[in-house]
Formats: sequence, C-alpha cells, structure tokens
Amino acid sequence: MSTLRTPASTPRTTDPDWWRNAVVYQVYPRSFADTDGDGLGDLAGVTSRMPYLSTLGVDAIWLSPFFPSPLADGGYDVADYRAVDPRLGTLDDIDAMIRSAHEHDIRVIVDVVPNHTSDEHAWFREALAAAPGSPARARYVFRDGSGPSGEQPPSDWVSNFGGSAWTRVPDGQWYLHLFAPEQPDLDWSNPEVRADFEETLRFWSDRGVDGFRVDVAHGLAKDLSTPYRPSNEHDLPLDGSDPLYDRDEVHAIFESWRTVLDEYDPPRAAVAEAWAPAPRRVLYARPTELGQAFNFDLLEAPFDASAFRTIITRNTAMAEQSGASSTWVLSNHDVVRHATRYGLPEGTDTDAWLMTDGTSPVLDRARGLRRARAATLLVLALPGSSYVYQGEELGLQEAAAIPHDALQDPKWIRTGHTVKGRDGCRVPIPWTTSGPSFGFGSVPPHLPQPADFGAWSVEAEDGDPSSTLSFYREAIAARRRLQQGEDLTWIEGGADVVAFARHDGWRSVTNLGTEAVPMPPGEVVVASGPVTAGELPGETTVWLV
Ligand code: GLC
Repeated sequence: MSTLRTPASTPRTTDPDWWRNAVVYQVYPRSFADTDGDGLGDLAGVTSRMPYLSTLGVDAIWLSPFFPSPLADGGYDVADYRAVDPRLGTLDDIDAMIRSAHEHDIRVIVDVVPNHTSDEHAWFREALAAAPGSPARARYVFRDGSGPSGEQPPSDWVSNFGGSAWTRVPDGQWYLHLFAPEQPDLDWSNPEVRADFEETLRFWSDRGVDGFRVDVAHGLAKDLSTPYRPSNEHDLPLDGSDPLYDRDEVHAIFESWRTVLDEYDPPRAAVAEAWAPAPRRVLYARPTELGQAFNFDLLEAPFDASAFRTIITRNTAMAEQSGASSTWVLSNHDVVRHATRYGLPEGTDTDAWLMTDGTSPVLDRARGLRRARAATLLVLALPGSSYVYQGEELGLQEAAAIPHDALQDPKWIRTGHTVKGRDGCRVPIPWTTSGPSFGFGSVPPHLPQPADFGAWSVEAEDGDPSSTLSFYREAIAARRRLQQGEDLTWIEGGADVVAFARHDGWRSVTNLGTEAVPMPPGEVVVASGPVTAGELPGETTVWLV
C-alpha cells in the first residue's frame, strides 16, 4: 500500500471537494501589493492583504506566476519552476503566505506553465550551447529550416503574439515557440520533460499548495511529423486533428499528473486552461485528469439573455456528463475587464478601441459597471466554481490609456505596435484614495494607474454600502450560506430575463434588458443595483428566497 505525502501546511477545514463550488480569487502578484518599494508587487504583499481576502469571503486564491522570470510575458516565461522571483520574495515568503492563507481557511492554487519555459531557463541555455541533435536540444523543438539553405522557418505556423512561431539560432536551426521567442516550447514526448514537471507538482504540493492552474494545457502534445500541416487555433476541429492544439495524446500527460496529485490527502485540485471546443474541453476535467477546465464562454459572450441561457445550459450539462463541476469566468489577466466590455457598444473590437486610448467608441462606464454587477451576481448563483479577477470587486475599468512607452505586453512589440495587449487589466490595485500608487506601494508602480483610480480604491469603497466592494462581500457571504449541491432549474421569465432556482427557494433573476419587469415574489436577499418596490430594473440581478 502506498503512503500518502503530507504537505507542510494545510487549511483549517478539510473538504476534499472544496474546489467543486469554490469562489477563487485570482491574484496577479506583480500588481497586487508592493511591500518592498520597488514598484512591483510581492508575496509579502499578498500575505499582508490576507485579512482583506478573508473579509471578501473567497475560498481560494490563484496566484499567477511568481517564479524567476525575465518578464518577457508577465511571468508566463518561467526560468525556474521551483523557486521564487527574488523581486517578489523568497521560498520562506511563499511558505509564510501559504500558512497565512491556510490560517484564514483560504486554499492556494499556483500556476504551472508546462508548454514553454523562459529562454533563460537552464535547459534552454544548455540547448543553445549544445549541438543540433543533442539530448539538450531534444527537450525543446529544434528543427532545420526550409528553403535551399534552411533560411526559411520549418513551417508557416504563427505565434499567438504575432509573427512566425519559429526563431532561428546562430548555428542555423530553428526552435518552436507558440508564444514569444523568449518562450521556447518544450517537447512533451520527451520523458525527461514529463518527469521534471511531476517533480514540480510535488515540490509545490509538499509546501502546502492545494491546487494548480495549468497554463495552455491544450498545447502540450504536438504532431511534428513532416510535412507539417497547417494549424488553426481559432477554429479547432472536433476530432483532435489540429497539429498543435487539443490533440488526443495530451490526455495521457494529465492522467499521469492525476496520479501525482492523488499522492496527497486530500488530492490536489487542478484546472486546465484549455482553449478547446466545448465538448472536448470537458475531457481535461475528467476525474482521471485535472478535475476542472476553465469555461471561457461567458467571457466571450455579449450581455444577452439568450446567449447566457445557452451557455449555462450547455456547461451545466457537460459538467454533469464529465463528473466535473462547471467553472465560470468573466474576467482574468488576459482580457479587457468585464465592467468595460459591457459598457462598449455590442460588437466593439476591443483591440481597436484600446488603440484609441479608450476614446472611440465612447465607453459608458456606469452602464458597464451596472451590467458587470448583474452578470457577477448571476454567475455567483450558478453551481460550480466562480473565478474572480483582482480588482473586479472594486468595479475597476480597463486602463485604456497607458502611455505607449510603458506597455509591457509582448503583443505590443510582436504586432509592430498595432495591438496594445493586456496591460490595461494588469494595472496595480488601488488600496487608498491617494499616494504615489494609491496604496499599492510607496513608489510609482511598474504599470501606471489612471489618475482617477483613488475613487475606486478599497479605502474609498470600504464601508460604503452601495460600493461594488460591499456588493461583492455581501454576495459571496450570501452564496456561502445558500450554496448547496449542483442542481439548477430554469424559471420562465420573459425574453430578456435569465431566471433559475437552485434549492430551498433560492432563485436568481436577471433582467438583461433595459426596461423594468415585475419583481417576482419573495424576499430580496442580494441585489446587484438599486431595486424599487414591485419592479426589477433593467440590467439588474436579484437573489430571492
Ligand atoms: C496563457 C496565459 C497568458 C500567457 C500565455 C502564455 O494563456 O493566461 O497570460 O501569455 O498563456 O503562457
């Protein structure tokens, strides 16, 4: 009989299924709280804000990468998977952060980035110094080029950030990178790569980490046979036949991860970032694999009742089939904040809008926030886990006018300055109404904040019953009291209304239209905005019991 491994720290309560219906708060560590005055957030900053997270009522925090990184892609270019970026702290600091989270009964999820390393990872340096065909190169995808003297890339595959997915090294070979050139792809058919990542999972699990978010989970298995076939990430086939994404072989990797995650009691949780068609996305979430996969359907949908109903129906059915629970995401570190998306005319190309510094088309901030609060309250009533991205609980809008010379996203450079990228949702959090970085730290932050950020700070909103922060606290607390099981029953409510019952009379009713509708009977326990007697205003959600 095998013995279970014992983590260094455990949460106060022990529920092996904690992840099934959790509220998970995403921390982007470099932009959360800066305690050492270098303009970058750090782990001690996260620890210092644990009481805030506890009052917010979240069940878990997910930390975007805090590992050593040259920051070619906001830390998703990892130079050492089993260490802490010295600018963010030390291993002692992460241990202290995990302990503090657990004392507050908050679970900790860390990001693992298996598709690619940083070009400053020891393996890649070794690969560059080694000869073509060497074992050091075989951890990555090095190939000879095409054309008479190999001066053309091996294939026409393009990187997610623009430009070719191949970069040439001085001896003439090319290496594959689905993202920036500073993010060389690993070759997951190499057993050494697989063994090393399993060690990484154990390394963090032993320290007390409760779960993992798996970056680009759908990218690890690739068909690199020649002639190379075209890939289309944006319209993946349903039979797993794309050469680069969502291939069937990827599942064997996660099955073997599951045996590692199950070496712990309770088993470590995991959630796949797998941009695969919905019916195939749930495969990553099978109990024999990661357990959950992000559902980005709402994040990509308009504020529209029929779209919401279709997405909820599909995802709850798929969750039931796969034995997973659903996940719900409205914002994260990769997309324009939902309070902003919902305040722009439907169909706005947000990349183009950002290029106008957020001036055209005109953003209706009040409407965006009203709709964002309504959507958030709806999502919090759904069965499954809700992922909340730092700052959305303050009602933050996208920072659309970051000066060009301050932009950090590799998309900005790789697209020849035609796409600004994702920095606008990664601007540091305002904690106070004034100060050099509104309480984020003692010096100007690594990404400049909008001048009006103080009005959206924790200090400004704390204690104001109408603030978005008070609303999130109230909604999450009510969810904690009400949430049970994973059943949902639709209620007929009209074309613009999304209404469903959970259990014991708990109902969520959202009016996605602009005209008020009659308020259904019952006691209102939480409302996303002001409600008048007898009426449910437009763009508003209420929970009734
Ligand atoms: C994921 C991350 C994103 C990153 C990319 C490459 O999509 O969420 O931020 O740029 O992977 O690692």
